Amino acid sequence: MEKFDAIVIGAGAAGLFCAAQAGQRGLRVLVLDNGKKAGRKILMSGGGRCNFTNLYTEPAAYLSHNPHFCKSALARFTQWDFIALVQKYQIAYHEKTLGQLFCDDSAQQIIDLLLAECELGTVTVRLRSEVTSVEKQGEEFVVTVNGKQVSTHSLIVACGGLSMPGLGATPFGYRLAEQFGLPVLPTRAALVPFTLHKPLLAELQALSGVAVPATVTAQNGTRFAENILFTHRGLSGPAILQISSYWQPGEYVSINLLPGTDLAEFFAVQREKHPNLSLRNALAKLLPKRLVECLQTMGDLPDVALNQLSKAAQQDITDKLQNWQVQPNGTEGYRTAEVTLGGMDTLALSSKTMEARDVQGLYFIGEVTDVTGWLGGYNFQWAWSSAWACAQAL
Ligand code: FDA
Repeated sequence: MEKFDAIVIGAGAAGLFCAAQAGQRGLRVLVLDNGKKAGRKILMSGGGRCNFTNLYTEPAAYLSHNPHFCKSALARFTQWDFIALVQKYQIAYHEKTLGQLFCDDSAQQIIDLLLAECELGTVTVRLRSEVTSVEKQGEEFVVTVNGKQVSTHSLIVACGGLSMPGLGATPFGYRLAEQFGLPVLPTRAALVPFTLHKPLLAELQALSGVAVPATVTAQNGTRFAENILFTHRGLSGPAILQISSYWQPGEYVSINLLPGTDLAEFFAVQREKHPNLSLRNALAKLLPKRLVECLQTMGDLPDVALNQLSKAAQQDITDKLQNWQVQPNGTEGYRTAEVTLGGMDTLALSSKTMEARDVQGLYFIGEVTDVTGWLGGYNFQWAWSSAWACAQAL
């Protein structure tokens, strides 16, 4: 049976980076992945340009039942450390918005960086290699892959969450944790578009493709200010994806379609200057025309001039535009979700090494753990930071 110093399950962001770091420390590392290419999610990420980290990475940008867990790893391998590596490989990048760093050219550059880092060490990457079972025999983990067995003292579970099954996602990491008696928290799709109930969806159908800046607030008070996008299934766009991580089925979200606008003042000024201007044309100065037309079709805008607009009607419109209460029907689920909330309970892991407290030699890194970042490069940063912490301990 082939023996390695460490075996990593998953050639994604976390697995490749951990293998490279451990390999460069002199360990013989084997990486196993069920896909025919390494880093498939990286390639898809950031619209093909990989949003590889965020300048403002901080623990507050992560959801976890154990919010302190991510602090140590994020502090020990920071966004600046990963940026330094990107610079070392002369990969050109830019800040798109809100600290989000993207490659100028292609996400493939990040995969090439990770594979080049692996080549600097003693790392073997085996693709089309699905791990089907793991057994502990004494101090060794015996891993069955494509019907053959390989063994190691240190097994690193980096097989991700459930999002995008089309890219190879499996529940294998969770099943493995359970097999070793480790707790796994319930999972759900996150950073995912909302679907809407049929009547509202039908009313908003004409808006499909329209994007507007907005603030979206969850029932627990968490708020994000970014674009929302009307789609033929419901609502998407960065502000919606962000809030989906804080939304529970049945809850409402509140949407302000005119953040930062004092509508009372706007109406007063417009009424003064153009008393005969229609309400519709006045609002078209602030919102996309299609949105205003849709509001009119829905019966939310009286067909009046500004000098005929009653106080009560003005208040109604203000509520509708700045405190629009939407109850999503659900989400698009794992099929389109960027990440999985929940997973391997971090209370059972060392925050310094990512090793299971009760199973010596078994480590969990990246998305399989119950650490989920905001949209914007935070999830890759967790992959790098948790992978680095683990590699130092092997
Ligand atoms: P990841 O899922 O990347 O890798 C796990 C690997 O394990 C997979 O290759 C899988 O096939 C393999 N595997 C599973 N079971 C196995 C088994 N039994 N045997 C062998 N192999 C197995 N984040 C971000 O910060 N910036 C961004 O721009 C984006 N963009 C983005 C776009 C899209 C479309 C998605 C779906 C996701 C993002 N993300 C993101 C999220 C980010 O991609 C995600 O958090 C990381 O890829 C997680 O890295 P991991 O290495 O933990 O898992």
